[in-house]
Amino acid sequence: MSWKDVCAADEVAENSLKPFNVDGISFLVANVGDGFRAYPPVCPHMEEYLEDSGLCAKGVLTCDRHLWQWDMKTGEPKGPAEKPLLMYPVKEEEGRVMVNLEKELEYDFDDEDD
Ligand code: FES
Repeated sequence: MSWKDVCAADEVAENSLKPFNVDGISFLVANVGDGFRAYPPVCPHMEEYLEDSGLCAKGVLTCDRHLWQWDMKTGEPKGPAEKPLLMYPVKEEEGRVMVNLEKELEYDFDDEDD
């Protein structure tokens, strides 16, 4: 298993995202209130960097480009979003956020015209 110590739990404010790069893998850590989630860094729609385009409010992440939305806890799409967010396994140990980066998660952008 490739659990990586990413940051202190208090480094990511509630209802926000923070970008990290560990061992060449970029990802975002989100504080969803009762824990943390980790997603690939880009929007599954058109590869916008959610660090710039993502807005967090009330447990919902919105990409401000075309307003795709997701439940930050489950990654499930909401409203017009057509794809879920991929999520890395995350755990919190002794005040540290640990992310399992065994396999880099990437969206398939080839099916846009389907
Ligand atoms: S690029 Fe994010 S909603 Fe379109």
